[in-house]
Amino acid sequence: MARLFLCLAARGGRSYNPCMRNPRLDLLIDYPFRRLRELLDGVAPPPDLAPVVLSIGEPQHAPPPWVADVIAARAADWNRYPPLNGTPELRAAMVGALARRYGLPDGWLDADRHVLPLAGSREGLFQAALMAVPGCQTDPAPSVLLPNPFYQVYAGAAAMAGGEAVFLPSDPANGFRPDLDAADPATLRRCALMYLCSPSNPEGAAADAAYLARALDLARRHGFVLAVDECYADIYDHVPPPGALRAAADGGGGPDNLLVFHSLSKRSSAPGLRSALVAGDPALIAALGRLRAHAGATVPLPIQAASAALWDDAAHVADNRRRYRAKFDLAEEILGDRFGFRRPDGGFFLWLDVGDGAAATRRLWEKGGLRVLPGAYLARPDADGVNPGARLSASRSTASSCTRATRMKRAPGLTPSASGRAR
Ligand SMILES: Cc1ncc(COP(=O)(O)O)c(C=O)c1O
Repeated sequence: MARLFLCLAARGGRSYNPCMRNPRLDLLIDYPFRRLRELLDGVAPPPDLAPVVLSIGEPQHAPPPWVADVIAARAADWNRYPPLNGTPELRAAMVGALARRYGLPDGWLDADRHVLPLAGSREGLFQAALMAVPGCQTDPAPSVLLPNPFYQVYAGAAAMAGGEAVFLPSDPANGFRPDLDAADPATLRRCALMYLCSPSNPEGAAADAAYLARALDLARRHGFVLAVDECYADIYDHVPPPGALRAAADGGGGPDNLLVFHSLSKRSSAPGLRSALVAGDPALIAALGRLRAHAGATVPLPIQAASAALWDDAAHVADNRRRYRAKFDLAEEILGDRFGFRRPDGGFFLWLDVGDGAAATRRLWEKGGLRVLPGAYLARPDADGVNPGARLSASRSTASSCTRATRMKRAPGLTPSASGRAR
């Protein structure tokens, strides 16, 4: 049978109907960086100071130079479709890295059942919601518990999956850990998924083992998926933050109900590789694998080889940590107890109390050439309309801390009060 191909988008045909799209797209709020561009529109940094961009969580250290050699040596593999589940070498390297990092019992993680590679942890975190939230429309919708403030992808994922985002305030009085008691029993009963982040973006707070065990217990009692974003787990100050896998192993069972996410973006300063992992409950890993067979980006074979080498190597990670530690030393020396400075447990952000985050952001750009992010852009207003990030400003600590912190200290109008709070 002869067929004729007609492109209806051509002039004269019936064109695209803008109503025919997923209305949930309207629930996606603007990513903070677009809001920042608007906030700083028309504000120029001083002409005599080189601008320092501290608003984006992009590592500035170089990945180990041998990564490029590993990729080049596998150039013959660019013409092959890579296995979605990863090569056996990669899966073994991922499991090995997790077992060493958390001191997991021998064989507790099985490379064939408990782990999958991801093209960056962002896509896996997003897909966790598509996998966990039942698609049927119910009223009220299944709930997805999120920290507040939070990495913005969690809320986007909850919205697109048809869940209702319920925010758990990360109270400074509780060391910036999301309040697990904030969700009422009805919300817990309809909960499909809870996201946690440890060490957290933006506050840099690590959850302790008891907290993680409690979150896991809630997930099991109420039958929801606990997704713990540990992408900053290897960027810590002196004490390695405990992990949710270890909390599960200490409980005496397997990783039921649990997914953890780790990434080479931060651990190895290689966000351009787009390489990460998800590990945990084998039933959830299998379900994610099925979803990813339709909707997942596959990590190319040369990148899988480089990733295996990176997961196997701890020396470059220790060096990375040492360099961040030196920056936090400087930040502490210069900021002291001003602006509510608190040395983060992990990650590479400062979360400073500057009074009015938006005003401080404009002032730091205008007077100091420092581009930071108002804390409110990373949080949602609570039931009383109070945005827990409003007084705060986030900046990553990957540029020269000395330059940054010194300029911050001198930026006119940012005057900390005696209590260490900025006016
Ligand atoms: C908390 C958190 N989770 C996940 C990601 C995603 O990282 P990637 O997709 O590069 O692994 C980021 C990136 O900034 C992040 O800050």
